[in-house]
Amino acid sequence: MNKQRAGVFIAFEGGDGAGKSTQAARLAVTLESRGHTVLRTREPGGTAIGEKLRSLVLDHGNGEIDAHTEALIFAASRAAHAAQVIRPALARGEIVLTDRYIDSSVAYQGAGRHLGQDAVQSLNGWATSGLQPHLTVLLDVDPQLGRRRRTAGQAAEDRLESEADEFHTRIRSAFLDLAARRPASYLVLPAHLPVDELAAQILARVENLLRDPAPTEGKEAAPAVPAAAAKGSSS
Ligand code: TYD
Repeated sequence: MNKQRAGVFIAFEGGDGAGKSTQAARLAVTLESRGHTVLRTREPGGTAIGEKLRSLVLDHGNGEIDAHTEALIFAASRAAHAAQVIRPALARGEIVLTDRYIDSSVAYQGAGRHLGQDAVQSLNGWATSGLQPHLTVLLDVDPQLGRRRRTAGQAAEDRLESEADEFHTRIRSAFLDLAARRPASYLVLPAHLPVDELAAQILARVENLLRDPAPTEGKEAAPAVPAAAAKGSSS
């Protein structure tokens, strides 16, 4: 669909407290100052229904949310986000920066909640009709540093953030595995680097991507749905 060199889709991923939002904001300002149209968005959320789903799944006090329900809520938010926000912006030729995308579900629900990374990937491939980022910036954060950053003078942790350190350690390795599987589509950086240094490295990679997006273009065809699961997909 977005084959004829439409927009560019970049996802920021990483554990809680990695500094994704800071880096996405920095990149957006720089790109806009150079005349690009940038859409900054986030998951869960990004649409009216997505923001409702966000508070449903993140706030404490909504009763028990089992792992399958949790995964489906994130996927539902993402389906709306891909269809209503990301695809239209890419079709308009914009640069879309999203704070979290499919990898977050693969890491948090697939690995963190033990639902299985392939199953969660498959669910989300279906939910988004296979839409994948041209580039994923992974800010790799030590879970203890992440927790220290989150709790430094901040409000209480949400449902996911307040999980034990082992949960966050599983998530960290899942993110790194995803990046190792498709290195050409990832930029992995240690989240403890100074903010300016991270911003410079991210900008350099994005400049390359904007100069020559061809190798990672046409992400519709990329294997969002693993072969075994694809049989059951209706797309
Ligand atoms: P985020 O918006 O990054 O948190 P904040 O802005 O409050 O720092 O993400 C919210 C939480 O939701 C975070 O703990 C990760 C979790 N999450 C999942 O478990 N699965 C998903 O698919 C997504 C998008 C987020």
